Amino acid sequence: MMNKKKYNIVTYGCQMNVHESEKIAGMLCELGFENCDKMDEADVVVFNTCCIRENAENHAYGNIGMLKKLKMQNRGMIIAVGGCLTQQMGKAENLHEKFPYVDIIFGTHNLHKLKGYLILKQKQKKPVISVEDDEGIVFEGDKPYRTSYPNAWVNITYGCNNFCSYCIVPYVRGRERSRKSDLIISEVKELVSQGYKEITLLGQNVNSYGNGTDDISFPQLLEKIAKIEGKFRLRFMTSHPKDFSEELAKVIAENPKICRCVHLPVQSGSDNILKAMNRKYTVEDYLNKISILKKYVPDCAVTTDLIVGFPAESEEDFEATLNLVKKVNYSSAFTFVYSKRDGTVAAKMDNQIPEEISKKRIIELVDLVNSLTREHSSVYIGKTVEILCEGFDEKKNVYFGRDEFGRMAYFGFNENVVGEFVNVKINRVNGVSLFGERV
Ligand code: 5AD
Ligand code: SF4
Repeated sequence: MMNKKKYNIVTYGCQMNVHESEKIAGMLCELGFENCDKMDEADVVVFNTCCIRENAENHAYGNIGMLKKLKMQNRGMIIAVGGCLTQQMGKAENLHEKFPYVDIIFGTHNLHKLKGYLILKQKQKKPVISVEDDEGIVFEGDKPYRTSYPNAWVNITYGCNNFCSYCIVPYVRGRERSRKSDLIISEVKELVSQGYKEITLLGQNVNSYGNGTDDISFPQLLEKIAKIEGKFRLRFMTSHPKDFSEELAKVIAENPKICRCVHLPVQSGSDNILKAMNRKYTVEDYLNKISILKKYVPDCAVTTDLIVGFPAESEEDFEATLNLVKKVNYSSAFTFVYSKRDGTVAAKMDNQIPEEISKKRIIELVDLVNSLTREHSSVYIGKTVEILCEGFDEKKNVYFGRDEFGRMAYFGFNENVVGEFVNVKINRVNGVSLFGERV
């Protein structure tokens, strides 16, 4: 039998990109390729890039640069670069000039055409460069090759209309559009019948699902999905606080399949900065949303995203962020140093904060978040929690998986339990991680 040709995909950035890489993998499988872990054994290497912060962009450039040597040794290898980085205005041309050995450059809007670009590239010598704007469409034809069993990601919206002043996403992912609810529901039904145990609904702002259409709202969609038969967990990300509603809190409370864990990015604890960020809520509005959530779901874990060093952020603004973090008592948080993104409103603002100040602030913030996380972890000692086993760590010889609040637990067992819900008694914690035994 002839050996199949191989592909290797390198993914940068968020869950949205991880799932898009699954769609890319699906196209490559349809073309007869199979996955391989080693880049130097691959016939096609795809970089699925991110540009949300400068370091994500630089990381991708560094890795694409390193591939030149490999391409010289194996001229038949096809290198494709796509995603958010290439979709930025003028970046595809820059990339082609800087790395002329890249064979295919595509964007976020035309990802569904990659299969055609690969076929074309196999026939022609010159590179295929296309970031054409199919922005308005919701493409439904792809069959992802899923790599995260027992977890499955399902897009519900694409793009974003919020234009937070620091963020490049609306420029590289276009206007917000929603998939049809009946297609989403049948996709989840199929995934559950295939044995997937955790479904995460994805969108830049899931709460505004269905806006501008006559389809159902996000809480209605969530409820319909939570009523699908079978044992599985349901998560969603990301929620914009301005659109988080009481109706949604009720739906979470009434449907045990929906995890009691909500990611509600606040970004800053200062009203001045929130205004400059164009977030469209105040600290008071945000705290009200948290109170509504806790009224219906008292044990709900809340996680967040925080940015330090936004232009003109004063010491008082930063203190306000620390205070808010303590007040909400987040169970964990992603913390970022503001990164200036060309083309955004914030990039043109005066008073960009010097790096050394941002560095000092992020260290202080991370320390605070870590101490809260440790406190949340310590409560677990002696408790038994239901874990969905996600895999086996061969080096550490332990299984691992998460509880409904998103905490990762490690436990020993002598049978393969990947994809199963198991009860684990926690006897030790370390930072965010829990350690225990199956009971
Ligand atoms: N600089 C730093 N962090 C950013 N984020 C988005 N844009 C930027 C930026 N320019 C963060 C926000 C968002 C998360 C996905 O990334 O916190 O919620
Ligand atoms: Fe970016 Fe704001 Fe849209 Fe989130 S809601 S993707 S931070 S513009």
